[in-house]
Amino acid sequence: MSNFNILLNSAKKEHEKGNFLGAKILYIRLLEFEPNNPDINHFLGVIYSHLNDKQNAYFYLKKSIEIAPNNIYFYTNLAKLLMLDDKTKQAIQLLIEAIEKNPDSAETCFNLANIFKMNNNYHKAIDYYKKAIQINPNYADAYNNMGLCQAEYWRSKDAFESFKKVLELNPNYPNAKRMYHVLEDKLVDEERIINKYKTSNIFSKFEYNFDENEIIADYLTLLKKCLSDTLRIDEESVEFEKVNEGGIIISFLAETMIGIKRLNNLHYCIVETIKNNIAGDLIETGVWKGGATILMRAVLKAYNIKDKLVWLADSFEGLPMPNTELYPADTNSIWHNMKIFNVSIDDVKNNFRNYGLLDDQVKFLKGWFKDTLPTAPIEKISVLRLDGDMYESTMDAMKNLYPKLSIGGYVIIDDWGIIPNCNQAITDYRKLHNIQEKIEFIDFSGIYWKKEVDI
Ligand SMILES: C[S@@+](CC[C@H](N)C(=O)[O-])C[C@H]1O[C@@H](n2cnc3c(N)ncnc32)[C@H](O)[C@@H]1O
Repeated sequence: MSNFNILLNSAKKEHEKGNFLGAKILYIRLLEFEPNNPDINHFLGVIYSHLNDKQNAYFYLKKSIEIAPNNIYFYTNLAKLLMLDDKTKQAIQLLIEAIEKNPDSAETCFNLANIFKMNNNYHKAIDYYKKAIQINPNYADAYNNMGLCQAEYWRSKDAFESFKKVLELNPNYPNAKRMYHVLEDKLVDEERIINKYKTSNIFSKFEYNFDENEIIADYLTLLKKCLSDTLRIDEESVEFEKVNEGGIIISFLAETMIGIKRLNNLHYCIVETIKNNIAGDLIETGVWKGGATILMRAVLKAYNIKDKLVWLADSFEGLPMPNTELYPADTNSIWHNMKIFNVSIDDVKNNFRNYGLLDDQVKFLKGWFKDTLPTAPIEKISVLRLDGDMYESTMDAMKNLYPKLSIGGYVIIDDWGIIPNCNQAITDYRKLHNIQEKIEFIDFSGIYWKKEVDI
């Protein structure tokens, strides 16, 4: 065996043992023999990553790619380093480059998908898991992670099929059996909800003929379609019906999950309060990506209203852990586990910016409702929209904001029909304050009423 190979074997052994300092010295000596050996440069880069010497790690990992641009593993390790260094965009860019150079690498597609998944970009993640599966149809890990993304985004049927496939490929795959059964139950549940709203006569309740300038009407109609990502869906299709009537099945690209009917209702409530000179700002408690509040700002803009603000109250990091001592109704709440609700304030601001609607009339209340709402600097409200999903979130919003709602203003509850805890909070609050105003149904879940009596 040559001196080079003896040294290389020792370096690899030290590397495997986790003696990174020892391995580093040996790899550096090896480079003296072969400075352009791509593997040695790569190994040394990996060692420097372990030693947290980023500058040298970047240098050697990049050099290995320069020398051997078609070696997919070199890209993977550099991408890992970029991820550790919080440089997600560069990592994504690098792996896209790697895939362009080597389109048959299922593993690179899988790695790229994992980065998108980690960043809650499930749409893109699923695209790349699909590519990985196309290249390697037996890729159980890709099916599994794709299933997790689909489940996270309420694509229950697709997720169910993915886990079914995982189990076909590997019946002992950890957790796949559990996910398969959870999704099986969920599908039955979703079917029940869809049937409920399809057969219910409240289904078509909210109809409103907007009597407004044609350009305003066109702008707001177009906006609602963009916000719900239904612009390209045939209005006669079942898919359209599900998205718009139910707000259950949502698009990855939509900025709102509430469906067109509830957007129409919001539009209606704002216009009514404008026409009737009802004082007060607009607020939504629970904004997610901000879609409903973007519509709020757009309606004010379309009607040239400058003296009303749009308030967005949200943690911008998802739902709270249930406080079962204070709110036993939330005991079974699992929403806090769902990563899709973690939408940052910057992402929401960006969504406003994309529609040209981020300005001084838009205000943010970041934090848990229990902390932000009691001291929110809001004097009066004309439209109060609640979409916090839990008993606690609904009660906190009612308790702190309903007294500020002007007579003639509207309160809208998104989850009344679909989430029993939310329904319970509204029932309790109405009972406590003897609220008698008639509840109007928007669709199978959303309700609203016009405030007629102060509490
Ligand atoms: C169902 S989403 C809202 C959907 C949104 N209205 C739309 O148009 O798509 C619920 C939101 O409420 C927020 N949320 C729920 N309870 C909260 C609480 N107690 N404090 C702060 N934010 C809360 C979550 O972060 C999440 O963004």
